[in-house]
Amino acid sequence: MDVLATAVLPDSIAAIVSPARLRTFERAADRPAFLEAVRGAHALMTMVTDKVDDGLLDAAGSQLRIVANVAVGYDNIDLEAARQRGIVVTNTPDVLTGAVAEFTWGMILAITRRIGESERLVRRGGWHGWGFDFLTGTELAGKQLGIIGAGRIGRDVARRASAFDMRVVFGGRRPGSEVDGWPVVSVDDAIASSDIVSLHVPLRPDTRHLIDARAIGLMKPSAFLINTARGPVVDEAALAEALAARRIAGAALDVFEREPVIHPTLLTLENVVLLPHLGSATVETRTTMAELAASNVAAVLGGQPPLTPL
Ligand code: DGY
Repeated sequence: MDVLATAVLPDSIAAIVSPARLRTFERAADRPAFLEAVRGAHALMTMVTDKVDDGLLDAAGSQLRIVANVAVGYDNIDLEAARQRGIVVTNTPDVLTGAVAEFTWGMILAITRRIGESERLVRRGGWHGWGFDFLTGTELAGKQLGIIGAGRIGRDVARRASAFDMRVVFGGRRPGSEVDGWPVVSVDDAIASSDIVSLHVPLRPDTRHLIDARAIGLMKPSAFLINTARGPVVDEAALAEALAARRIAGAALDVFEREPVIHPTLLTLENVVLLPHLGSATVETRTTMAELAASNVAAVLGGQPPLTPL
């Protein structure tokens, strides 16, 4: 049985998938080479950046049994194309929740306390001594965190809010209900009433450009937008325009519409933190993600049900 992984994965997966079966192909962005590499594979271990569609599944061949995405998000995979061929698709939920939630708080602190901007200033020799009103930021205590998306990660971000004395509202489809004791309001109300708006929705047709010029227009001028979800959930051009005009206070972005390309205006602004898609990037979490994906492969190739099917 041939297993193809599109990244070098931690050694610990050798206990789950025999190294003798595992091939590593790190050039999935080179589409013709990727189509060639998948030929004959019984299992694929794919990353968020790999496009898994009809063309790739056809190139792999009818022996392909499973696509194990090493990610919780799966917008890179055409699930219907896989279903039509009887191919199991799995992701890696749960194991990265804490890492992404921790990182979200890092981003919230980075933008509200101007950490990136301050560090850039120090490095370019722009610090000439302590100043009473020098690089003052915004405090979190007593403010409202609006979480769009009440899945595992959104709820884990909310759970940590009390450590910062913040109240939480969830923006969702069932206004009037509660999530973990916090109220659910409409998405528009959460966006309009919150001091920090943090996005935790998957990318689907109905969430593409969920945050567009209209939604940004609802935000308080003092509010901050945080995106650790998927780039296309935000209309990046509209956000760049709003940040440049200071229509909102700032944004912290870990994901972008056309990664690794970033809207050129964003690169010139101080009121935005720009990060290279690192939400789940801890050694611990990436190891458990790879192990979970490998366990899914081992289960399916061994004739067992997958652990985390989609
Ligand atoms: C995910 O898991 O979806 C992240 O974006 C990549 O780790």
